[in-house]
Amino acid sequence: MQFSGVIVVVTGASQGIGKEIALQFAREGAHVCALARNQIDLDGLVEKIKATGGHASAHAVDVTKAVSIRATINEIGQRYAHIDILVHAVGGFKRLLPVTEITEIEWDEVLNVNLKSVFLCTQAVVPWMKIRPSGRIILLGSIAGVSPNPHAKSYLPYGAAKAGVLGYTKHLAKELGGFGITVNAVSPGTTATERVMQIRSENDLQQLAAANPLNHRIEPSDSAAAVLFLASPQAKGITGVNLNVNAGSVML
Ligand SMILES: NC(=O)c1ccc[n+]([C@@H]2O[C@H](COP(=O)([O-])OP(=O)(O)OC[C@H]3O[C@@H](n4cnc5c(N)ncnc54)[C@H](OP(=O)(O)O)[C@@H]3O)[C@@H](O)[C@H]2O)c1
Repeated sequence: MQFSGVIVVVTGASQGIGKEIALQFAREGAHVCALARNQIDLDGLVEKIKATGGHASAHAVDVTKAVSIRATINEIGQRYAHIDILVHAVGGFKRLLPVTEITEIEWDEVLNVNLKSVFLCTQAVVPWMKIRPSGRIILLGSIAGVSPNPHAKSYLPYGAAKAGVLGYTKHLAKELGGFGITVNAVSPGTTATERVMQIRSENDLQQLAAANPLNHRIEPSDSAAAVLFLASPQAKGITGVNLNVNAGSVML
C-alpha cells in the first residue's frame, strides 16, 4: 500500500497499458482518477477497482482539447485540493503507412494525440502539483521515439511524436526540478495490447519476442511496474530519464 491516499491522474486508463497502470496504483492504495474518452469503459474500470476495495473516479475527456482537459484537471484538483502524480498514457497509432502516403490530416492527428496532449495535460496539472513540494509526472514514450524498432515496421509520425515526448521530458524536468517535481518517461517496446493486436499479427508478436535478448513477450504489467517505481518515494532522485521497457530490443 505504498500509494495510500495519493491522488493519481492516469490518462488513457480505459484500456491497454494505461488500464494496467491504473489497476496497479489502485492495488497500492492510491485514488485513481481515470481519464479517456469512453465513459462506459472508464465506468467498468472504476467498478472493478471499487469491487476490490480500491478508490477510483471516471473522467471522460478528449486530451487533445485544451479547454476540456483543463476543466477536467481543475475539477479533480478542486475536489482533492492537489494532485500528486500524473501518468500520461494516451498515445498510439492506427495505421502503418510509408512516408509518401501520409496525409497532412493523418500527421496532425498522430502528433496531436501523442505530443500535443502531453503539453496540454502537463500544463493543466502543474499548478495542482506545485501546491505541495513534491510531484511526479510520468509520460509514456515508446521504443519508436528512441530508434526505429530493428525487428518491426515503424510509423514515421509516431516515431517523430515520441522522440518529441522524450525531449519534452528533459526540458520539463529541468523547469520543474525546483518545485520538487520529477518528470520521467517510460518507453515500452511493442506490447501485446488489444490495439497492437489489431495492427500486428500473433505471429509478428511471437517473432518480436524471439528477436529480443530476453526472448520476452512484453506485457502491459512490465511498463506499469516501471511507472510505479518512478512514482515511488524511492525514485525521488531520478528526473529527466527515459526508462526503456523493451526487453533489450534497443539499448540507447
Ligand atoms: N502497446 C504498445 O506496443 C506500445 C509500445 C510503445 C509505446 N506505447 C505507448 O504506451 C501508451 C499506451 O499504449 P496502449 O497500446 O496501451 O494504448 P491503447 O490500448 O490504444 O489505449 C489508448 C488509451 O488512450 C485513450 N485515448 C486515446 N485517444 C484519446 C484522446 N484523444 N483523449 C483521451 N483519451 C484517449 C484510449 O481510450 P478512449 O479510446 O476511450 O479515449 C485508451 O484508454 C501510448 O502512449 C503508446 O504510444 C505502446
